[in-house]
Amino acid sequence: MSLKSIQKEREYTKFVVDERLCYYESSKNKSEKTFVEELSLSLNQKHKSIDPKFFYDKKGSKLFEDICKLPEYYLTRTEISILTQLQDKLPTYMNEEFRLVELGSGSSYKTRILISILENMHKQIEYFPIDISKILKESAVTLLDNYENLRMTGIIDTYESGLDFVKNYDNKKNLIVFLGSSFGNFDYKPGLRFLDKINSSMKDDDLFLIGLDLVKDKDVLEYAYNDSHGITAQFNLNVLSRINSELDSNFNVDKFAHHAVYNEAENRVEIYLRSLENQTVNITKAGIALKIKQNELIHTENSYKYTIPKIKEMFSSTGFRIRDMWFDEKHYFCLILLSKNS
Ligand SMILES: C[S@@+](CC[C@H](N)C(=O)[O-])C[C@H]1O[C@@H](n2cnc3c(N)ncnc32)[C@H](O)[C@@H]1O
Repeated sequence: MSLKSIQKEREYTKFVVDERLCYYESSKNKSEKTFVEELSLSLNQKHKSIDPKFFYDKKGSKLFEDICKLPEYYLTRTEISILTQLQDKLPTYMNEEFRLVELGSGSSYKTRILISILENMHKQIEYFPIDISKILKESAVTLLDNYENLRMTGIIDTYESGLDFVKNYDNKKNLIVFLGSSFGNFDYKPGLRFLDKINSSMKDDDLFLIGLDLVKDKDVLEYAYNDSHGITAQFNLNVLSRINSELDSNFNVDKFAHHAVYNEAENRVEIYLRSLENQTVNITKAGIALKIKQNELIHTENSYKYTIPKIKEMFSSTGFRIRDMWFDEKHYFCLILLSKNS
C-alpha cells in the first residue's frame, strides 16, 4: 500500500508546526469508533477487560510520567542506566545514516539519550515518534526547542498503523526503538504476531532496539505496581474517567479499587480494577448497560517479565538475529539490538 493510500485509509490529517516538525493524526471520528467497538467487545466478555492502550488520554499520559519518577518503579531509571552505556556501543552497528523511529514514544524523555548518540554521528537527525497519545505533540515541540538539528514527523496512532506508515515511507535506514518494556503488554501469541509485524516492516539493513523487563523477585515486582503514593492506582482508575468523558458513561471511580498481582506461573504482573459493590454502569455511546458484581475484576493490563531463553526463542521464531544485549548491574532489565535474520 502506498503512503498516500495509507494516509487516506487512516483518515490522517497532516499538521505542519514548522519546517522541522509535522505530525499526522487520525480523525476523531475514527478513534472514537475504535474506542466504542473495542470496548463493547471486551466489556461484554465473561472476563471483562479494557485494552491498556486506552489508559493514555492526556491525564493518563501525565500520570504515567509521574509513575516513571517513583522510587518503586525501577524500570525507567534502570533502562536509562543501560541506555547511557550505549554512547560508544550503538554507533559500532550504525556505519551509515539512520532515522530514529520510536514506538510508544510518550514524553520522549529516554529518547534524548539516543538522539545525543545520533548527534555525534550525523549532522541532521530525523525522528519519527509514534504514539496513540496526543502527548506526542507536546513532547515533539519540547524536543524541537532543545535540538536544532532535529527534524520530526510524528504519527498519532497505534503502533501497527505507525509501522505501516514507516514501511512505505522511503528507502532510508531505520533504527526502530521500543522502550519501557511496553512490549510486555502483549500476551505471548499476539506478541509474536507483533514482532512479525515489526520484522516485515523492516528493510534488510534496519535495526530494532527493544527494552524488556526481566523476571525477578515477586516483592520487587508487586511493589513497582503498587506504589505507596497511589499513583499507579490513579493511572489505572483514570481509564474509567476517560470512558465517562469520551463515551458518555457513569462509572463511579470511588466504587472501584486498583489491584496488581504477580502471576509467577505466567511471569506477568496482572492489573485489574476490582468492583467494590454490585453495580450497573451505562456507557451511552456504546449502548451498553454493564452489570458488574461485587469483587468482580476488570482486567486492564498485563506486564510480562522475560527470561533470557524466552527472549532468544521469541526473536529467533520471528525472524530476528540478536546483534547485542545490554544489562544493568542487577540484571533487572535488558536492551536488545536486533536485525532481520536475512
Ligand atoms: C508504558 S508507556 C512507555 C513510554 C516511553 N516509551 C517510556 O519508555 O517511558 C507506553 C507508551 O506507548 C503508548 N501506547 C500504548 N499503547 C499503544 C498502542 N497500541 N499504539 C501506540 N501507542 C501506544 C502510550 O501512549 C505511552 O506513551
